[in-house]
Amino acid sequence: MRKRIVAGNWKMNKNFQDAEDLMFEIVDEITENGIGETEVIICPPSVYLEMSSDIAVENGFMIGAQNFSQWDSGAYTGEVSASMLHSMGISHAIIGHSERRTYFGETDKIIASKVDLALKYGITPIYCCGEVLAERKAEKHFDVIRTQLSEALFHLGKEAVSQVIIAYEPVWAIGTGVTASSAQAQEMHAFIRSILADKFGDDVSQEISILYGGSCNAQNAEELFANTDVDGGLIGGASLKAVDFVTIVNSFK
Ligand code: PGA
Repeated sequence: MRKRIVAGNWKMNKNFQDAEDLMFEIVDEITENGIGETEVIICPPSVYLEMSSDIAVENGFMIGAQNFSQWDSGAYTGEVSASMLHSMGISHAIIGHSERRTYFGETDKIIASKVDLALKYGITPIYCCGEVLAERKAEKHFDVIRTQLSEALFHLGKEAVSQVIIAYEPVWAIGTGVTASSAQAQEMHAFIRSILADKFGDDVSQEISILYGGSCNAQNAEELFANTDVDGGLIGGASLKAVDFVTIVNSFK
């Protein structure tokens, strides 16, 4: 059966003490409410990975990076590599987030090389795809997602692609308070799964968790997660509040 997953993307928020406090608040909420069968991954800023992973290990959740370098190692001042993350016990990494594509010029080619590096070092990629508003309005959203998936993942074999978590994040829904409707999310998730089935076979497509991201919150998570092809969420803003985040974690029926 596919894993149910809720991942929190803290983005570039919180100073050290606030980050540590939030981590402990999440631990308290988890201790009180449990997480059921859901896999929980928190992605704090990279400078807090060590602090966070120590806490996560003791409390049954996992830590992911928000980003890492497209290169394996070497003279790349300021960069953090997949190998370094692996050596610190980091299990997951977000790859291809729309903010990386928009503000840091990450192309499908760069993103594909990051997917390869993550898999090389045993880090589970949380691969993000999503269309911008103009593309949806022009009814190009399915083509956009097909292209993004094929550029980043189609070079992989069946075994490798089975390791990947996909997050569908319509760019117009990220941080805007405008969520995709439950029907829009299900429609796109089913489309993504059908593309995966065509390329890698039905068995593989049924194993891959597809998360929804974009203004998912404690109020709408239950409806979104009730869809057959929505296996959880990648949560930005609402992951900065422990009560809301753990409510979302427990929003599966
Ligand atoms: P949001 O962000 O939940 O704040 O819309 C989601 C994301 O960017 O992963």
